[in-house]
Amino acid sequence: MIRPPEYVSSIRPYVPGKPVEELERELGIKDSVKLASNENPLGPSPRALEAIQKATKDLNRYPDGGGYYLKGALAAGLAVEPENIILGNGSNELLDIAARTYMRPGEEAVMATPSFVVYAMAVRSMGCAAIEIPLKKHTHDLEAMQRAVTPNTRIVFIANPNNPTGTINRKDEFDRFMEELPEGVLVVADEAYYEYVCDPEYADSMKWFRAGKDVLILRTFSKIFGLAGLRVGYGIAKSGIITEMNKLRPPFNTNSIGQMAAQSALGDHAHIAKSRETNETGKRYICGELDRLGLQYVPTEANFIYLPVDDSGPLYEGLLKQGVIVRPMGPGALRVTIGLPEENARFVAALETVLG
Ligand SMILES: Cc1ncc(COP(=O)(O)O)c(C=O)c1O
Repeated sequence: MIRPPEYVSSIRPYVPGKPVEELERELGIKDSVKLASNENPLGPSPRALEAIQKATKDLNRYPDGGGYYLKGALAAGLAVEPENIILGNGSNELLDIAARTYMRPGEEAVMATPSFVVYAMAVRSMGCAAIEIPLKKHTHDLEAMQRAVTPNTRIVFIANPNNPTGTINRKDEFDRFMEELPEGVLVVADEAYYEYVCDPEYADSMKWFRAGKDVLILRTFSKIFGLAGLRVGYGIAKSGIITEMNKLRPPFNTNSIGQMAAQSALGDHAHIAKSRETNETGKRYICGELDRLGLQYVPTEANFIYLPVDDSGPLYEGLLKQGVIVRPMGPGALRVTIGLPEENARFVAALETVLG
């Protein structure tokens, strides 16, 4: 049989969760709540749903490969030019394109661990090494990441907020990191949960874009905009970077429904505000209940909470049997997405039952 390069066959594939319907059938349960993938529990904006209806009329046509209107709307909102924006099939695809654009086999990328698993996959798929720097207090250790940069480093990935811990890097440390970074290294600031952050000291990556640094800022319509199923993300960078990445971007990587829905969602400020408020309320409730139960958790700036536990397996299984789907993060932690009030209450009640 034909064999791929060793650096491909040695990649551990991303393991997708089972469809909820299948899980319910196997466990003989109904009405489960899915708090496993950091989705917006309110769903998409009604304006996006309307746009989706309209867009179905033209499905015989190819999408606008340039994403003209969506990029225009994004650029206007961000006070940048459309040439500073690239659209991706989720921000996930842009992680991959960034690695393919800037890495040669044998080079290195620095990232945190635990962080978003796709960084290491993208880098390894290029025959490159993922240099993984442990979190410090559940947060990216930017000083240690800086020390790990060598002349062989091409990309530093920073998830801000980090998935799975929900922590952020603040302005002062991020600015110091950017100031000291040598030339020839691309910083990928992955801000998938950007719109959820409340901390006024949250790092300002756009400042470094405006200063002309080699930075690629990634954001997505999958989280607060509630459009994970349509796969639309975007990157912001200087036009030279966007031009190079576009050479490797498949021509129709974002679909027509996704583009129209994203553009409408972007303008629905009321839905964004409601989504943020629902998340804040849920966060306060769950954290309060975890305090009451004497359980440890990491304070979050995102729409999920990381719970360090002794043994995640039995807890995960116990919650599952009660119809609450969370995400185990190795043997030492669980990650739960903040849901609707009734979903959060289901999670807390199930947790109390499992803990006896
Ligand atoms: C930190 C982080 N980056 C990127 C993504 C990818 O999001 P999408 O490809 O849906 O835009 C996720 C999704 O969970 C994430 O947690």
